[in-house]
Amino acid sequence: MTSQKTILRALAGETLDTQPIWMMRQAGRYLPEYRATRAQAGDFLSLCYNSELAAEVTLQPIRRYGFDASILFADILLLPQALGADLWFVTGEGPRLSTITDAAGLAKLKPADAIHEHLAPVYETVRILSRELPSETTLIGFAGAPWTVATYMIAGKGTPDQGPAHALKAADKTTFEGIIELLTESTIHYLSMQIDAGAEVVKIFDSWAGSLQGDDFVNYAVKPAQKITAALKAKYPDVPVIAFPRGAGLRYEGLHAEIGADCIALDDGVTANWAAKHVQSGGCTQGNLKSSHMVTGGQDLVDEVNRIKTTFSKGPHIFNLGHGITPDADPENVQLMIDTLRAS
Ligand code: CP3
Repeated sequence: MTSQKTILRALAGETLDTQPIWMMRQAGRYLPEYRATRAQAGDFLSLCYNSELAAEVTLQPIRRYGFDASILFADILLLPQALGADLWFVTGEGPRLSTITDAAGLAKLKPADAIHEHLAPVYETVRILSRELPSETTLIGFAGAPWTVATYMIAGKGTPDQGPAHALKAADKTTFEGIIELLTESTIHYLSMQIDAGAEVVKIFDSWAGSLQGDDFVNYAVKPAQKITAALKAKYPDVPVIAFPRGAGLRYEGLHAEIGADCIALDDGVTANWAAKHVQSGGCTQGNLKSSHMVTGGQDLVDEVNRIKTTFSKGPHIFNLGHGITPDADPENVQLMIDTLRAS
């Protein structure tokens, strides 16, 4: 049976005349209605754990723009919090966590399957969304990839070069690999519960994959994603997986097969021409438009949307940005992107 949902059709390998579209961070601070609901919730984490309000902000960009998919409103750092790490957000700066830097710190974390009570509000958000979303809108669940989540757990914050995680990998490989293993297993539990609650697609965000070189890229970006994908496929053969190893560069080639993912999401560091030839040949692709166009708009935005649309038009492609939309973006530029894409 062919699904009517355009995102699911693209993920199944169909080349569509009009590429389906959604946007990373589509529920976010560039939208006045998001800022209002966030103020009502109190702070970002309170919003993530308030199922009703988290569902509300997930729905806002669907109402405003009619995107073809919505992504669950949550954060990749809720999982380490469920494993026992402290987590808070400093306004204007970003996330802060208690750090795990040795075997004793790792031993204090909870087992991989002990996360569900803490994450119950997230599963409830998914259930609300699967009831309330329009029938043509696909619901995407997500988690961070083990390496990316580990970089925050080890450093206690975001870092430009993921230095602390690389240092632990070099100094105490056993503890480092223990963290990756725990995150791999708990991510399988977490995404399974999202699927049970109604997520129709899952996406694995490896935002810092680009800092893994050589064998490290294979061992800590490809293998964990492959393991998570294989475990999910064994239980849910019909649920597509999108992998986003941001910054993979030339290593994007061949990743569909290596990871076993239905779709590889592209950042804006590879050219559309190269990616259409070397990545889309392996299956559905997603992304590639520079987020800065949502700030600058104008004819450049129109030209870029048309160029990316045309370049990926010979195979399955989901239109998206190469990374999240930024708070300084103009909501009208988002509409211009959609109108340009959907104009024949
Ligand atoms: O895309 C969506 O609309 C769904 C929700 C979503 C958020 N974060 C909400 C969010 C998703 C999928 C994420 C993923 C995420 N979170 C990633 C991977 C993708 C990426 O951006 O590389 C990472 C690395 C995080 C960790 C994180 N969360 C950071 C570093 C920050 C601070 C930076 C920033 O943009 O402010 C966050 C906060 C965050 N997560 C916001 C949102 C909407 C902004 C919070 C706010 O309202 O103040």
